[in-house]
Amino acid sequence: MLTRTQVGIIGAGPAGLFLSHLLHREGIESVVLESHTREYIEHRVRAGVLEQNTVDLMVSMGVGERLKREGLVHKGVEIRFGGNARRIDFQELTGRAITVYAQQEVIKDLVAARLASGGEIVFEAEALCLDSIDHEPRIRYRVNGEQRELRSDFIAGCDGFHGVSRGAIPSSLLTVFERTYPFAWLGILAQSKPASEELIYANHERGFALLSMRSPEVSRLYVQCPPDEDLAEWPDNRIWDELHARLGLGDRLQEGLVLQKNIAPIRSFVAEPMQCGNLFLAGDAAHIVPPTGAKGLNLAVADVRVLARGLAEYYSNGRRGLLDRYSAICLRHCWKVQRFSSWMTTTLHRFPEENAFDRRRQWAELDYMTSSRAGSQAFAENYVGLDVSLDS
Ligand code: FAD
Ligand code: PHB
Repeated sequence: MLTRTQVGIIGAGPAGLFLSHLLHREGIESVVLESHTREYIEHRVRAGVLEQNTVDLMVSMGVGERLKREGLVHKGVEIRFGGNARRIDFQELTGRAITVYAQQEVIKDLVAARLASGGEIVFEAEALCLDSIDHEPRIRYRVNGEQRELRSDFIAGCDGFHGVSRGAIPSSLLTVFERTYPFAWLGILAQSKPASEELIYANHERGFALLSMRSPEVSRLYVQCPPDEDLAEWPDNRIWDELHARLGLGDRLQEGLVLQKNIAPIRSFVAEPMQCGNLFLAGDAAHIVPPTGAKGLNLAVADVRVLARGLAEYYSNGRRGLLDRYSAICLRHCWKVQRFSSWMTTTLHRFPEENAFDRRRQWAELDYMTSSRAGSQAFAENYVGLDVSLDS
């Protein structure tokens, strides 16, 4: 079976879904192919922090109702290190804020609104390979055990780090920049009232810890652990002991039923360029940031804003000017976000090879960042989110 559309989108993660909405708004037709079921993508526990730009975009797209009702607006964050607890006031330093709203809730809102407006999302459709990306791109995919083909003017590879799109760019044209870190994050979702109204990042002798949340009754908590760690080594009581020791919140940290537990690797990755012919990579398909800066989802959204603008220009007047600069614009923004995320990661975690000098330097870094106005402002403007349109 053969179908045709203007933009073939692979992946119904944040990148693919935001893109299909933005294109729809411009009168551009798209089809989204997603290898998993709707149920699966709507319940996958991942990121939780939305930058102000992402929130504003959802509201302007008409999918921000539930977000405005249920999202938790945070005007600051706390950083703990060497016996200090310091707050960075985003509102005062930047006039902006972040919103805690789970990625799977964003996905639910985007899927529901897209389907309600007649959009096409094909679930359980796995893209197998991409052909003719220089001319008339085709995606071969499998659905219900049957092979099909989607033809389009352009392909948006929004299929995450393990997708097929990046591999369609000849390796001789692609340069990969990568850093792996000697630790992972063990995350839990717990039925417990969050110990603080705002997020707490802790640099501790025993390793990094983070307190976040999903609602007034559900906490999301993370501890640094060795890479390739077996979850079986971490019974609930060991996780709570580490959280108590590293966060230092005393009785404020209430233990509760652990609803979900996972270990995520930590890496920085960028593939350059993010485009080849009529194929454009967006989101995790092109780059991964360590989660410490809470940027993965927001960076995916920044990419597709640029892509949607380029496609809108092309379909309105046939010019490829913006499309041709897609990769350059996104990479300029991406590297700033990489810089911030890797800086936060190296400043807050313990490294096996570090010595006493390195620890003192980390503390001094955090001390400067939290006590100087210039330092706090630089942190705050990066954390609430840099504006990708300034990179065009
Ligand atoms: P994805 O969300 O990965 O979406 C890609 C979609 O493509 C998926 O739905 C996938 O099923 C689909 N797909 C893949 N291959 C194919 C194919 N061949 N055919 C069709 N469909 C395909 N960021 C944070 O800031 N904080 C966190 O705590 C955090 N936790 C994370 C935990 C995990 C396990 C992962 C993987 C990521 C996490 N991230 C986190 C990062 C953040 O969730 C991502 O940056 C964000 O999801 C990127 O969106 P995306 O649309 O580019 O990719
Ligand atoms: C989360 O709530 O899952 C979260 C918050 C901040 C981060 C990473 C993850 O830096």
